[in-house]
Amino acid sequence: MKIYLDTANLDEIREAASWGILSGVTTNPSLMAKETGADFEDTIRTIAGLVDGPISAETVSEDADGMVAEGREYAAWHPNVIIKVPSTPAGLQAVHRLGQEGIRCNVTLIFNANQALMAALAGAFVVSPFIGRVDDMSEDGMELIREIAAIFEQDPDIHTRILAASIRHPRHVIESALAGAHIATCPFKVLRQGMKHPLTDRGMASFLADWKAREATMAVTAGAGV
Ligand code: G3P
Repeated sequence: MKIYLDTANLDEIREAASWGILSGVTTNPSLMAKETGADFEDTIRTIAGLVDGPISAETVSEDADGMVAEGREYAAWHPNVIIKVPSTPAGLQAVHRLGQEGIRCNVTLIFNANQALMAALAGAFVVSPFIGRVDDMSEDGMELIREIAAIFEQDPDIHTRILAASIRHPRHVIESALAGAHIATCPFKVLRQGMKHPLTDRGMASFLADWKAREATMAVTAGAGV
């Protein structure tokens, strides 16, 4: 499974990209709104220079014509830009029309398998089930991923990727992979949490302490002319 970063924060993207683990980035209007004063086009172009993979840029129109116009504009910024449209009838129409022009789309705000299937049939490059928000409704986000994976698996004509979004913690990443997601888009905090284990920290401290003790012993031995 591939890891994308779910942020519009350039420092976070630079840091995670330096670890060599990133295959793409997803942004949305709420994430952009957190980056006060940042220009959308500059941000997307900068991200495309930092990460060699799909970069999702979300439309804010509510009608298909507006989404298509925005999609054409964003796609011209960089070949890796993917147009994020909502899972609505207008969104499906935009996916279909942009697809005919060779522009790839990420259908977002997916909360049931019907939405995912229809997005795939309209020609979506990826679908984004929001597993955290599904869990928030006392439903099962992982079951949604499993259903979508099973449906896509049994139709050889569907090549749409499943991108697990609204990831809230490191277990979501692992469980998404096991449930059949191709990609998980993670907040930076979740990536850092996923890397952390107290036994790694404790093990490192003990290795370093043993190494220092060994050097001290060797210095004493050398000083005594042994
Ligand atoms: O990619 C969509 C994701 O950012 C939504 O996450 O945590 O706002 O539900 P969240």
